[in-house]
Amino acid sequence: MTETPGEDGPDIDADRLTREWAERRDADAWSLANAFDAPGTYLEGNSLGPISDHAEAAVGDLLAEWRDLAVEGWSDSDWFEWGERLGTRIAPMVGARDDEVVCANSTTVNLHTLVGTFLRESDGAEVLVNELDFPSDHYAVRAQLRERGLDPDDGLVQVASRDGRTIRAADVEAALEANPEVGVVVMPSVLYRSGQLLDIPAITEAAHAHDALVGFDCAHSVGVVPHEFADVGVDFAVWCGYKYLNGGPGAVAGLYVNRRHHGTTPSLTGWWGHDKETQFEMNERFTPADSAGAWQIGTPPLLAMAPLRGVLDLFDEHDVTVAALRERSLALTDYCIDLADERLPECDVAAPRAPDERGGHVALEHPEAYRIGEALQARDVVVDVRPPDVVRLCPAPTHVGFADVFDAVAALRAVLDGEEYEQFDAPDGGVT
Ligand SMILES: Cc1ncc(COP(=O)(O)O)c(C=O)c1O
Repeated sequence: MTETPGEDGPDIDADRLTREWAERRDADAWSLANAFDAPGTYLEGNSLGPISDHAEAAVGDLLAEWRDLAVEGWSDSDWFEWGERLGTRIAPMVGARDDEVVCANSTTVNLHTLVGTFLRESDGAEVLVNELDFPSDHYAVRAQLRERGLDPDDGLVQVASRDGRTIRAADVEAALEANPEVGVVVMPSVLYRSGQLLDIPAITEAAHAHDALVGFDCAHSVGVVPHEFADVGVDFAVWCGYKYLNGGPGAVAGLYVNRRHHGTTPSLTGWWGHDKETQFEMNERFTPADSAGAWQIGTPPLLAMAPLRGVLDLFDEHDVTVAALRERSLALTDYCIDLADERLPECDVAAPRAPDERGGHVALEHPEAYRIGEALQARDVVVDVRPPDVVRLCPAPTHVGFADVFDAVAALRAVLDGEEYEQFDAPDGGVT
C-alpha cells in the first residue's frame, strides 16, 4: 500500500481514497441503509433524516388504531403516555434517568418554556448565548427576556467566536466571569454551521461555579453523539426529532430536565404537563407532573410521533446504540475529511479535526457554496448550504455509507472542475 502525504495531517493511505476501498469498508460494516429510502446520494440527514420502512409502518399502525378505536384510543391504547414512553426510550441516548426526558412540542417551543422557567428560577437578569447559535434560539431567548420585563439588548449576552467557526469553553467561562448577572447559559451541543462539538461538562461546571443554570440545544447531536446529562449535572436540554432521529418533517421534539428541578412549575403550562393521576379531574389550578413530563403543553401530536416510535423499534431490532452510531459517524466524517483534504484543496475544512470536538457533519467553506449546492443537487447529490460560504456534508450513520461519501466528494470535484456552478444563479442579494 502506498502512502500519500495529506495536506496538513498525517499520511493518508492512498488505497483509502479509492471507491474500491469505500465499497470494501461498506461490505465489512453494519448499516441500516436498506431500511431507509433517501433520494440520490443523501448527505442531508442533519437537516431532515430520510423515511424508513419502520417509520412508515408505525404511522400505518397509528392510523389503524385511530380507525378502530377513535376516541377510545386515549383510554384503550397507550396514546395518553406516548410523550413519556418515547422519552424513556430516548433517555439512554442522552444519559438521562427515565423520568428526565419527554418527547413534546417543537425545539423552539421547548426553548421558550425551559428558558422562561429557568430565567424565573435563577437569580440573574441575563442569558448567556453565543454568536454562532442557530437564530431561533436567540429569538426565543429574547422573547423570554421581554416576558420578564427585561430589555433583550441588555439581557442577551453573547460569547464571541475567535475564528468564526468555533466557541471555546474558556471563553464561555470568561463571559460568566465578566457578566455576574447571567442566570441562565444556553449553548448548543454542536454548532449547526461548523459542526463543532462543545465541551458540555466544562461549560456546565463553569455555569454552576457562577451560580447560573445551564441548558443545551442538542438538535445536532441527539441520535449521533452520546450525552451524559445526569452525570454531568446539566439542568435542561432540547432537541428535534427530524434530524439524526429520522422522525420525519415536523417530528415531535424532545427535552431533558434534571430531576433536581422536577416539581417546578413550567413557564408555559398546559394540561398535558399536569400530574397524570389527576389530569382528568379538570382542576382549576395546575399541579405539575413530578417529571420532565411537566414541560408538555397540549395534546401530543401522535401523527408526528409515530415515525419516531418506528425508528426506535428499528434501532431496538438491530441493537443499535448511540455509542455504535457515534463510532460509525466518526469513521464516516474522518473519511469525508481525508477525501476533502486530498481532493478538494479549494475548500477549507471548517469541521474540527479532533474527533472529540466534532459532531456528525463536515462543513466545507467555499465562496461559491450556494451555487455548488445547486450544482450538486443537479447531480442527485443532496447536501445543504448555510450562507455565506458553508456546504454541509452529513454522512448520517444510520443510512449513509463510505461509498456515498466517496461519490459526494467526487461529484463536488467534478462540479469544481467543470465550473458547473456557473450554470446557476446566485441567490437574491447576490450572496453565494
Ligand atoms: C440548532 C437548532 N436549533 C433549533 C432549531 C429549530 O428547531 P424547530 O424548528 O424544530 O423549532 C434548529 C432547526 O434546524 C436547529 O438546527
